[in-house]
Parts: sequence; C-alpha cells; structure tokens
Amino acid sequence: MAYSMKDDIKKVLISERKLQATIDRLGKQISKDYEGKNLLLVSILKGAVVTMADLMRAITIPCSIDFMVVSSYGSGTTTSGTVKIIKDLDIPLSDYDVLIVEDILDSGVTLSSLIQILGTRSPRSIKICALLDKPARRKAPVKADYIGVEVEDEFVVGYGLDYDEKYRNLPYVGILKESVYTKNEESAE
Ligand code: IMP
Ligand code: MG
Repeated sequence: MAYSMKDDIKKVLISERKLQATIDRLGKQISKDYEGKNLLLVSILKGAVVTMADLMRAITIPCSIDFMVVSSYGSGTTTSGTVKIIKDLDIPLSDYDVLIVEDILDSGVTLSSLIQILGTRSPRSIKICALLDKPARRKAPVKADYIGVEVEDEFVVGYGLDYDEKYRNLPYVGILKESVYTKNEESAE
C-alpha cells in the first residue's frame, strides 16, 4: 500500500468531527459577539490557515480578513517577547475590531508580542481566538478570548500545524509516532 501520513500518527487527538463542532461553536459565538461591529480576522501564517479557512465560513456576519507572517526570535528562557514581522497587514486597523486567529497558544510569546504591536495601531478593539490552547507551556501572560480545545503538553500536528513543515494537510489533529522524530535525527547527521 502507498505510504500515507496516517502511518506516522500515533494517536488522533481531535477528530474531524470534533474540529467541525469546535469551529461551529466558535463561529456562532463570534457572530453573536461582533454583531454591529467591524470585524477583521487576522490570521498568522502558516499554521492558522486551516482554522482561518473554516472559521471564516462558520461566521455569519460580514467580516474582512488579512494575513501576517511573523517569526519569533530569542526563544531563550529570558525572552523579551519579540517577534519579527516578515509580512505585515495590508490595511490600517483604526476602523476595525481585530480578532487574531491562531492555530495554537503555546508559550504565548508570539501572541503577547503581536497584541502589543497591533495595539499601537489604534484598532477599535483587539482579541484573540486560538483553536488550541496549551496552558502548561505558558511563558508570557496572555489569554485567548476564544479557545477551541485545551490540549496537554504534547506536540501536535495536523489541521495547519506542522512538524518540520509537514503534516499541515492532515484533516485532524494528532500526535506523531516517536519513530518520525528519530528518523529525522538520523537523516540530519
Ligand atoms: P507560541 O509558543 O505561543 O509563541 O507559539 C508559536 C507557534 O509555535 C504556534 O503558532 C505554532 O506554529 C507553533 N507550535 C506551538 N506548539 C506546537 C505544536 O504542538 N505543534 C506544532 N506547532 C506548534
Ligand atoms: Mg510551526
């Protein structure tokens, strides 16, 4: 049989059905909370691309979308919480109620820094929606206003999330087999 990414998955953590239900719930809540506002969804590439694509279609009020690419640097223990903007937004934020759409809130370094940066651009409001939340790993004091599913301290892939730029196209969220990491270490030697 042909190789499938599925062969590399130890456990499906969040099924397609559960993801769909989660996105539906978030979409309903956001549509309610932002009624009459000027909603701008800001997605952080690349991880949040799948969440963004599904969430925007679960939102029933008009909204605009935009994308950013950021990279974190100085991930040391005493990180000052800075991210570098690789691709900035195309539109000014002053008229918008900004909702940042992220794949996962992990250490929080990316989002706490981004909230600061975008906050200086005078949006009407700014909030965070994270599909996954891994509170055990938090370093920066940041909380998501909308959370899909809370996960344990385990590395997850799929539904946009990658390991070494792969597995983003898995339709569910899963945990990789240890052999995938070892294979990668061997080939890196
Ligand atoms: P932060 O540590 O909260 O700044 O998370 C930054 C980024 O790390 C996320 O947007 C993800 O792209 C990536 N990340 C964190 N945890 C995981 C994981 O379990 N699997 C895949 N990517 C992750
Ligand atoms: Mg990544």
